Amino acid sequence: MKEIINQLKDDHIRVNASLDKMEQLIDTPLETSRDELVSEFQFFKDFACKIHHKRESEVLYNWMKKQNPEADKEIIERINEEHKSLESEVNNFIEKITKMAKEEENTILCDIEQFIRVYKQHIEKEEKFIFLIAQQLTEKKTT
Ligand SMILES: [Fe+2]
Ligand SMILES: [Fe+2]
Repeated sequence: MKEIINQLKDDHIRVNASLDKMEQLIDTPLETSRDELVSEFQFFKDFACKIHHKRESEVLYNWMKKQNPEADKEIIERINEEHKSLESEVNNFIEKITKMAKEEENTILCDIEQFIRVYKQHIEKEEKFIFLIAQQLTEKKTT
């Protein structure tokens, strides 16, 4: 399980880099950055939503629930719920940015800013709470 935790931390570095890139892109006029923004969200969908969330939920979190069925259930369920809503947001953004009319620009950019903030908080929660709990569980196993 230790390798999985390290893998997930490496994933977070890639995901954070993508969020930073989005942050830069929403600072420039959308006429020039629209295509790049769409492809950044597409990367996010393919990597963060389809690969990274799966690794977390299906490998690490399921394992944790088996180790400690009651104690960590609540926080894991909450974080899994966050995955679902973040994934649907990403899908919406891809569609919205592609079709966006000029007058919707500000609202969408604000929504993206909010999304970046929420996703970064999600990563922090995982690293500060869940990965730490997981690490302690793996240490318990080896002693
Ligand atoms: Fe996650
Ligand atoms: Fe994560």
